[in-house]
Amino acid sequence: MEELHAVQWHDGKVRILDQTKLPEELVLLEISDYYAVVDAIKSLAVRGAPAIGIAAAFGVVLSVWNADEVDRAAFIESVNKAIEELKSTRPTAKNLFGALERMRKVLSQNLSRPLREIKSALLRTAQSILNEDLENCKKIGEMGAALLPVRANILTHCNAGLLATGGHGTALGIVRTAIEKGKKIKVYVDETRPLLQGARLTTFELLEDGIDVTLITDSMAAFVMQKGLINVVIVGADRIARNGDVANKIGTYGLAVLAKEHKIPFVVAAPLSTFDPDIASGDHIIIEERHPDEVRKIGDRFIAPEDVEVLNPAFDVTPHHLISAIVSERGVIKFPNENALTEWLK
Ligand code: MRU
Repeated sequence: MEELHAVQWHDGKVRILDQTKLPEELVLLEISDYYAVVDAIKSLAVRGAPAIGIAAAFGVVLSVWNADEVDRAAFIESVNKAIEELKSTRPTAKNLFGALERMRKVLSQNLSRPLREIKSALLRTAQSILNEDLENCKKIGEMGAALLPVRANILTHCNAGLLATGGHGTALGIVRTAIEKGKKIKVYVDETRPLLQGARLTTFELLEDGIDVTLITDSMAAFVMQKGLINVVIVGADRIARNGDVANKIGTYGLAVLAKEHKIPFVVAAPLSTFDPDIASGDHIIIEERHPDEVRKIGDRFIAPEDVEVLNPAFDVTPHHLISAIVSERGVIKFPNENALTEWLK
């Protein structure tokens, strides 16, 4: 299904596959102003750390795509304003901030050039962020697939697939590459409440590719591990601190604890754009809190009293001591810790 793309630039517009509508409907949003990119990120029409960064970079391009090419001050102000607004959409994914920083640098390095050329430089950079992510996912796929036995049952959480990246996926990139290499892979995916990225998105993209997938509820993870059905857990990441602590979709930490109890390797797959060496440990990662109705409801229907108090953190932090390996485009780091990671990131 590699022809499906979470985000693309097409003819002066950003095309976003609206993931809130999946799996029932394939709706492509054709976006021509950056406010709509802001909304798409906030509403999770586009989601997954790398895809958020890619969408935001194209959002910056949109902020000046049809701008007056004479008024330099207004042009620069538009780019900076878009960067600030896009930054405020979701706090946890490092890729968002990395991509926006890259766009800001391109602006400042090209300030003396004609506005038309600055526009082209911004577009080239956004396109590179997308293309590099796709290449990195393929490398992650190679590195991760090499770790797997010829037959493996993998448990994954949320969606770290092509829908969350420039293509191929991180955790699901490992699945795809392993299958390309002839390995027999079965994937278990938990539904990932509250927003069901596992149930709605991961099953969808794996079924489209004809990959063997079984959906379980979040509360069944311990059961399937206890029954010996899982050989390895592989998840993505939203931000990785300097000591190897990993922020990822709420529920990831619980899986890591369970994996430890059942002596199952717990692997994190993420590009270097998700690493944040400025953050010493997971304690300092900002965890996004989302609207209580996401927990009170499933789809449009309330499944709880409408006024019940709710806690809705979108992510949790898995401490590095529970992680068997982190796979990035640079290679595999086993048993990550601050010394190993600092050395490795040099
Ligand atoms: O809230 P979401 O759907 O954006 O959360 C996504 C995840 O937690 C993914 O696992 C992570 O971003 C990695 S995507 C390659």
